Amino acid sequence: MSIEVEFITGNEHKFRELAAALKEAAGDAVRLRWRRQRYTEVQAGSLEEVVLHALEEVEGEAVLVEDAGLFVSALNGFPGVYSAYVHETIGSEGILRMLRGERDRRACMVSVLGLRLGEEVRLFRGEVQGRIAHRMRGEHGFGYDPVFIPAGCDATFAEAPELKAKLSHRKRAAEKLAEYLLSLQR
Ligand code: IMP
Repeated sequence: MSIEVEFITGNEHKFRELAAALKEAAGDAVRLRWRRQRYTEVQAGSLEEVVLHALEEVEGEAVLVEDAGLFVSALNGFPGVYSAYVHETIGSEGILRMLRGERDRRACMVSVLGLRLGEEVRLFRGEVQGRIAHRMRGEHGFGYDPVFIPAGCDATFAEAPELKAKLSHRKRAAEKLAEYLLSLQR
């Protein structure tokens, strides 16, 4: 038996990363389909609220949405829930500018996946700790990948996609999602 879930996102990178992570964690037991659709991203206080609101808006029997963010320690967690807007306006360069001269470069990337199966709604949170690089490095990935270095590593996610595939926020949220979906099939 296998469960088919529709991942609703306008971002192909997210779809590819999540599909690979689920395949690794659940094999053929979970099939992820891509519904390329945008939905309203409300301005809310947490990624969880954004995801819950999105799940109220989208239709479907087995649907998945995600909201992600970059939380920078020296900026008290900014851009956090504003990550998409900040990326569109000032980009990763803007984050580098705000941290110029700052020694505390700690940051965390977070992914919250929201699943609705029939009437049941579940959230799965994945986090990866790391630090902000001093300049943009790497060509792979998307968003803040060129400035995010996971803890214990020297390369940014954009320089080392294999690192991202192994230990990203999205990978960790996907593992929790896979565990839940597999438990429904036992
Ligand atoms: P959203 O989940 O699409 O709202 O993402 C918020 C912001 O974070 C956007 O600017 C994305 O490009 C960025 N972002 C989301 N996921 C990642 C990631 O895995 N790496 C780097 N940036 C990301």
